[in-house]
This record gives sequence, structure tokens and C-alpha cells, in this order.
Amino acid sequence: MTVPPLILGIETSCDETALALIQGRHVLSHQIHSQTDHTPYGGVVPELAARAHLSFLPKLLDTALSEASVSLSQVDLFAATAGPGLVGGLLMGLTFAKGLAYGLNKPFLAVNHLEAHALVPRFSENISFPYLLLLISGGHTQLVWVEGVGRYKVLGTTLDDAVGEAFDKSAKLLGLPYPGGPHIEILAQKGDPQAVPLPRPMMEHQSLNFSFSGLKTAVRHAIGKSNPEDLAASLQAAIGDILVDRVKHAIDVTQTPHVVVAGGVAANRFVNHQLKNLCLSRKIQYSSPPLSLCTDNGIMIAWAAHERYLAPMPQDLSAPPRPRWSLEEMEPPFLPTDIF
Ligand code: KG4
Ligand code: ZN
Repeated sequence: MTVPPLILGIETSCDETALALIQGRHVLSHQIHSQTDHTPYGGVVPELAARAHLSFLPKLLDTALSEASVSLSQVDLFAATAGPGLVGGLLMGLTFAKGLAYGLNKPFLAVNHLEAHALVPRFSENISFPYLLLLISGGHTQLVWVEGVGRYKVLGTTLDDAVGEAFDKSAKLLGLPYPGGPHIEILAQKGDPQAVPLPRPMMEHQSLNFSFSGLKTAVRHAIGKSNPEDLAASLQAAIGDILVDRVKHAIDVTQTPHVVVAGGVAANRFVNHQLKNLCLSRKIQYSSPPLSLCTDNGIMIAWAAHERYLAPMPQDLSAPPRPRWSLEEMEPPFLPTDIF
């Protein structure tokens, strides 16, 4: 059996500066710095994020190398998120990784952040293609038919806010810190999910799209009229109902044998429970990555690079940052990618 490549993956598309060294499914080191400087602003300030990435990357790299007991020259492949995301942050991670690859004469791979979310469930579990992916994060809400590495069909997407934004913006209205999703989940544990009547936009719609902005507006109107715990629980229940309805419809359309959930909101236990029950009732498989792989991290970037690893590697040193980069623009690698 060939030894898998030692891969350094870097993630800087939003407010997480993350860096991982992996070899196959073995994590030699994972370093993550979650920026808290944005809390007073209730959202990510792009300029602050870019500066923080720049100042943390060298420290995280040093720590990772010493924790893994490897030298930079042992790294076989350098990978960084090239998009989608905030252009300033993307530039920091990309240039950093490209510089290392160029200096060491090693290959560099530009990773699509959405592809990394889509494939990381295969890092923790043997999941075979095809599968129906529900990608739910702070910036994206998509139902994707995943046929293979680089072979994606986006079946539905949000028409307005992402589901993570619905959590975050509602949390801000409730005076909770950013990012609000985990705080809503904790608050919801003490509330009554039926206490506040909230809309469920797009439920039973014949498309596979989502909409969340009306939900956020309804939360705004309910503030002050009900207690925060009940409001948080009712919001979470409404989001759970919408996601279950949309996935149910997508199961019918695709006849998928397997539903996979990924992205930051997949860390929500209530949402997970609802989706798992749906799959149980339909007698199909359900997978969600461990919590640490749901939210942005370096392992998913390194793993996406692993899945695309080929010999000889295409050299991506001229890859630009791509603030917008749809999964449907991806191409499969040239050769079969299974290198185990
Ligand atoms: O995937 P991610 O780390 O970044 C993006 O690519 O957007 O997702 C971040 C989003 C935020 O909106 C955050 O509030 C949400 O994931 N999130 C959660 C939970 N943990 C993170 N939402 C609900 N419940 C959670 N436990
Ligand atoms: Zn993400």
C-alpha cells in the first residue's frame, strides 16, 4: 500500500484561521484560531479578519510542525482555500501557502471551500458516492447531489439568507454574541418550541430552494413579546421543520440511498436529530461529521486536497482568490482519486 501524501491545509475564508497537517486519515496536527474581535460588530469585519489571518498563520504553522514533529520539507502538498469567501482573507491563506510551495518546489492546490465541506464527511466515515448533501453554513444553504470528487449538481439553494445567517441575525436581535447559532441552541434547551408561532417559508414548495429572511423578520417582531428561551426554541424548531421538509423532498426527487449533512449548522444537535429521524423513517443512511469538522477547519481543506491528489499534480500557483466559486464550476480530477 502506498504511503498517503503529507498535506498541509490552510483555511482563511472567513473568521477562522485554521491549519492542518494530515496524512491520509491521520491528523498529525490541527491548529485553529477563532477570531473574537468581530463580536462587538455582530458580524465578520473583512479587514479585521484579513489582518488576523496574516498575524496568526506563521504562529499556527510553527506550532503545527512542532506538534507533528515534521519539517516543512517533508510536506508533499500545500493546499489553501481559494474561495468562496472574503477576498482579503482568501488572499492571506493563498499567498502564504503558495509561497511555501514555491519556496520548497512542492505542488500547491487551490481548494474550493464548499467542496471541502462536501467531502469532509468522507474523512471521518467510509461514505461512498453518490450521496445527497445538505450543506448548511453561515454563508451557504444548498442541497447538492454529489456524484464524485468534482462532480456536483446543485439541486436547490437559498433565495435570500443562509440558514446560519438566520441563526446569527436572530441571535443578534436577542443580544447574543456572534456567531449566534451555538448560543441559540443552548438557550433553546430551556424554551418551549411551540410557544412562538413562526413562519416556515418555502415548506412544500415544488422547487428544492430555501428562504429564511421572513423567519428573521418574524423573530424581530416577536422580540419583547415572548421570553428569549421560547423564541430561541421556536426559531430552532422552525428551522428544523424547513430543513426536514426540503430534505424529504430531495430524497423523493433523487431516490438517494444516503443523506450527508455538513457545514457549521450541522453542529446543531436538534437539527441533526430531526434529520436523522427522517432518514430512519425512510430507511436510508444518514451521516454527519463530528462537531469539530462541521464548522470551518483546516482538516477539511487538507482532506479535499487529499481527495484530489494526483501524480503529477497540476500546479495551481497562479490560482486567484475567488470570492464566488460555485460547486457546479468544479471539474473532476483527471484520474481516479482513491489512493488508499
Ligand atoms: O461552516 P461555518 O463554520 O462557516 C461558513 O462556511 O459559513 O458555519 C458557521 C455558521 C454560523 O452561522 C454559526 O452560527 C453556525 O454555523 N453554527 C450553528 C451551530 N454551530 C455553528 N448554528 C446552529 N447551531 C449550532 N450549534
Ligand atoms: Zn464553511
